Amino acid sequence: MDKFIIEGSKKLSGAVKISGSKNASLPIMSAALLTKEDVILKNIPDLKDINTMINLLKHLGCKIKKENDVVTINCSSINSPEAPYELVKTMRASILVLGPLLARLNSAKVSMPGGCAIGVRPVNLHLKAFESMDASISIDEGYIVAKTNKFKGSDIYFDIPTVTGTENVIMAATLASGKTVIKNAAKEPEIVDLANMLNKMGAKIEGSGTSTITVEGVDRLSGVEYTVMNDRIEAGTFMCAALITSSFIKMVNTPVYAMDAIFDKFKEMGGVVDVEDDSAVIVGGETIKPVNIKTSVYPGFPTDMQAQFISVLTLADGVSIVKETIFENRFQHVAELNRMNADIVVSNNQAVINGVKQLKGARVMATDLRASASLVIAALAAAGSTEILRIYHLDRGYEKLEQKLSSLGANIRREKA
Ligand code: EPU
Repeated sequence: MDKFIIEGSKKLSGAVKISGSKNASLPIMSAALLTKEDVILKNIPDLKDINTMINLLKHLGCKIKKENDVVTINCSSINSPEAPYELVKTMRASILVLGPLLARLNSAKVSMPGGCAIGVRPVNLHLKAFESMDASISIDEGYIVAKTNKFKGSDIYFDIPTVTGTENVIMAATLASGKTVIKNAAKEPEIVDLANMLNKMGAKIEGSGTSTITVEGVDRLSGVEYTVMNDRIEAGTFMCAALITSSFIKMVNTPVYAMDAIFDKFKEMGGVVDVEDDSAVIVGGETIKPVNIKTSVYPGFPTDMQAQFISVLTLADGVSIVKETIFENRFQHVAELNRMNADIVVSNNQAVINGVKQLKGARVMATDLRASASLVIAALAAAGSTEILRIYHLDRGYEKLEQKLSSLGANIRREKA
């Protein structure tokens, strides 16, 4: 298992290129199951989660070629409609193959994802929606076993706006008979990216990015060439790295259009966001002001940025309050940050952060993807050396993080733990 060693208190400068979005790439790759033709995807980041999706699609029978950031997928013959536990347990987003498999083959067997470090994360809303589209579903030995004669369009209301649930149902509905209307749909930009790709394949999807999405089923989808959007969470993470080190950096390939809530809080904290054009931004700052943050569904402040912003707020001049409303257990970074001299008290879903003058290097443990990123950010500003163990979590979702930070002037290296 690898670890990072970071010598802190170094200023950052220069430019960094933001990669393709992990959370857009995963559903978009899964959508290749809906056609027998070639799906050519550009701007796919080189990440562990992407490799897991590639392995899952290969296991199902798809042929895949990967050259740099271009992944070509052909699912003309699917030999097994089964997503095994070994793959699903390493990546919950594997559930995204359920809708496409059912739509294409009328049957699927996908391991039920378990809980994870950030919460219970059930998939009941995905399953309820598929049932209302005329699938029969049972749970057998830890597997979701689903069958349908053919998906039928349906009116679906999500109790909670679920991101992968909305994506799964959109994909399923593209080949259903008749019209599907999803109400209280999630509005994340990654869903819009998926819908744009599917529409390019011949799907009839309207309203993505709003809370009501309508999908008119079609008989078949064609192959496509599509460039995936850039990663707004990676961009937000580099913004935090700049502000906590009192630095200014330039981010290129930034999905500026999808970052209003992140930019807004960042500016309230004293950060500077200077948008040069639709994808290049100068970000950073010299002082950190305390702020209150409440995570919520898009266009609200993303839960995937909560941990990184908390790291920056540990050095704010005053008290900040951060409320997590999406996941019930997403404060595992707090105990580790407190080991680095932060002063954070968590009660229920709320963290009270009392700003301190200085963070101090320590040995800390990464617990999930975004928690790990928050520890890297804290380490960049801490006095002395920080060792971050279990960075395989980071490799799931940040492309070449240490190379990118090193090129900005950080002192970070990877070693075998
Ligand atoms: N929920 C249910 N039942 C369901 C589905 C969701 O109760 O059937 C609950 C969840 O437990 C949670 C809330 O609804 O409390 C929202 O969960 P959602 O389904 O939207 O999350 P997700 O689709 O599993 C995606 C991202 C996450 C991101 C969340 C929230 C992907 C692959 N994952 O997860 O990304 O945190 O949306 O924005 O898109 C990450 O990248 O680090 C990450 C965890």
